[in-house]
Amino acid sequence: MRWCLKMILGALALLLSSGTVLSRREPFGMRISCGSWLDVRTTPTNTLWYKDFAYTGGIPTNATSTSSISPPLKTLRYFPLSGGPESCYNINRVPKGRYSVRVFFGLVANPNYDSEPLFDVSIEGTQVHSLRPGWTTLMEQAFAEGILFLKDGSASICFHSTGHGDPAVLSIEILQVDDNAYYLRSDSSNGLIFRTVTRLNCGRGKPKFDEDFIGSHWGGDRFWNPVLTFVHGSDKQVSTEESIKQASVSPNFYPVALYQSALVGTDKLPELEYIMDVDPNRNYSIWLHFAEIDPSIRGVGQRVFDISINGNIEFKGVDIVKMSGDREAALVLNTTVTIDGRTLTISLIPRVGHHALINAIEVFEIITAEAKTLVDEVRALQKLKKSLALPQRLGWNGDPCIPQQHPWVGADCQFDPVKSKWVIDGISLDNQGLRGSLPKEISKLSHLQTLNLSGNSIQGHIPSSLGSISSLQILDLSYNFFNGSIPESLGQLTSLRRLNLNGNSLSGKVPAELGGRLLHRASFNFTDNAGLCGIPGLRKCGPNLIASSKIGIAIGALVVFLLLTLCLVICWKRQKNILRAQAISAREAPYAKARTQFARDLQMSRHGSTQGHARIASENGPSLLS
Ligand SMILES: *[C@@H]1O[C@H](CO)[C@@H](O)[C@H](O)[C@H]1NC(C)=O
Ligand SMILES: *[C@@H]1O[C@H](CO)[C@@H](O)[C@H](O)[C@H]1NC(C)=O
Ligand SMILES: *[C@@H]1O[C@H](CO)[C@@H](O)[C@H](O)[C@H]1NC(C)=O
Ligand SMILES: *[C@@H]1O[C@H](CO)[C@@H](O)[C@H](O)[C@H]1NC(C)=O
Ligand SMILES: *[C@@H]1O[C@H](CO)[C@@H](O)[C@H](O)[C@H]1NC(C)=O
Ligand SMILES: *[C@@H]1O[C@H](CO)[C@@H](O)[C@H](O)[C@H]1NC(C)=O
Repeated sequence: MRWCLKMILGALALLLSSGTVLSRREPFGMRISCGSWLDVRTTPTNTLWYKDFAYTGGIPTNATSTSSISPPLKTLRYFPLSGGPESCYNINRVPKGRYSVRVFFGLVANPNYDSEPLFDVSIEGTQVHSLRPGWTTLMEQAFAEGILFLKDGSASICFHSTGHGDPAVLSIEILQVDDNAYYLRSDSSNGLIFRTVTRLNCGRGKPKFDEDFIGSHWGGDRFWNPVLTFVHGSDKQVSTEESIKQASVSPNFYPVALYQSALVGTDKLPELEYIMDVDPNRNYSIWLHFAEIDPSIRGVGQRVFDISINGNIEFKGVDIVKMSGDREAALVLNTTVTIDGRTLTISLIPRVGHHALINAIEVFEIITAEAKTLVDEVRALQKLKKSLALPQRLGWNGDPCIPQQHPWVGADCQFDPVKSKWVIDGISLDNQGLRGSLPKEISKLSHLQTLNLSGNSIQGHIPSSLGSISSLQILDLSYNFFNGSIPESLGQLTSLRRLNLNGNSLSGKVPAELGGRLLHRASFNFTDNAGLCGIPGLRKCGPNLIASSKIGIAIGALVVFLLLTLCLVICWKRQKNILRAQAISAREAPYAKARTQFARDLQMSRHGSTQGHARIASENGPSLLS
């Protein structure tokens, strides 16, 4: 009996401890101090920032902060245009989940430097932010932030030049939040990105992050902008020290302190109204926070109000105490609105009892995540980038086709509605100073219609795999250093309308299928090559290149043989003459000596020639026989 009780207690303890382990699990968090050679810890929260890594290029340098809310980091990384129009951080080994991804911008600490760069930011290929002139003067514009699902184990954050200075980045944060955080339960939620437009903490005077509020790490360390008044004199602040019930709960884990201050309407203006500028024709998700902290409200029915957004009533008869179940208890309402104009107006209209009250407001722009480019095609382009030693100024970082505002230079994209992916239908890299060779992986670009690599210095063979890109219509490889023969496989390209191979070092026979196509409407150019043959306009091919070269060697050998024989005969005759002359003038000693020397020279040269003759003969023996 006692033993049994012990067992049950033990099991219970185990259950409890596993429960606490689960609840104590920390979210994945990755913070990078851009441009830093060392890991950094910042006060007052002792936050760890990893030294810089995972960037595609750029230059590390000293930073000046753009805003009082920027993390106190001393370095940044900036991306001059010479390194390409798009630069990225590609961070791997990010566990699958929902994340808040945040980038703080910086300014290069150099008085000669163009001070306020304007550029675009994309996360996972979807453009989420465009810096606006004057961003350095606005606290909330010191960073870009998006909440999204990361599913493939990596995060790609890219910066796109818009021609207004070099993108400069102070920090990157990838902070896991609850899988249901800010989640809209519609079918497409997976593919939605919430871009943070603003977070307001009403009735408080200091900017705060979740960390300052000692909020849960599952909240994503949100930034809260302080608002002491909506319209001066029309509202007043209330606050409390009491703890707030149901605040730091799943999925959004709002800090308790967020609900300990609020703005309340006064008699001056019946409505409590917040107005802000927004981008027109977008969808916004709006989250409103309430907790009844006003000591004059004791129960249900004493403060009832409607909430309208741009004139449309979104919530009718809001009674905070009733809906949250108690005083000092958190109530969160969210709604999605499409805004046509340039302003967002949130109005709290009192209906019963006291004026309206509000603790916090969050506004997100809802952005549909863009479909990516087919993985195989991205890999093929990366191989091409490497093989052709693509110049840095072309960039080619991130996704080739998205954001649609910033595709790669030289890559033409098309959306494939069947695969729901982008594909490459054209490559135009003519006159770009490319070197190296064309990789066989080019055939992985199976939707290619145009390939123009004219006017570069590409060497080696034309890969025969090109013949498998059945959609290819225009192939221009003119003015390069391609050598070898034209692959027979190009004959399979039945859609080919234009083939320019002129100005290379190609040789051999033009494939019969291509030659035949000349009769049709297609236009081909094979001129200015080392030794192409076999179609009208080029020279006639010999019966067979190898056979004709063998005949050439045989004839050559015969000629050499005849010449040598002739030479030998002449030499032999001359020596006979000399010997006879020696016999005649045997008594004239000085002459005799000179002539002996001459004879020896002759002998030596004859010996050498004989050797040479023998070598040529043996080398060509088999070919003469065959
Ligand atoms: C950055 O600042 C440090 C001193 O804080 C200085 O030693 C260093 O030279 C600076 N680096 C650059 C690139 O200006
Ligand atoms: C806004 O949402 C509606 C309906 O959900 C959708 O049809 C529309 O395309 C969205 N607009 C934008 C700009 O995303
Ligand atoms: C957001 O609002 C919808 C209904 O408008 C509701 O179903 C959902 O639970 C709300 N989400 C949160 C986290 O409060
Ligand atoms: C390829 O590019 C060159 C140089 O820009 C251009 O002259 C040529 O017409 C292009 N080729 C085709 C087939 O369009
Ligand atoms: C073609 O060019 C490459 C690289 O320049 C060279 O290695 C190869 O031997 C050449 N092939 C022929 C058949 O000339
Ligand atoms: C073919 O290319 C040569 C230069 O290599 C050029 O002179 C000629 O005009 C081209 N022919 C056609 C038909 O385009």
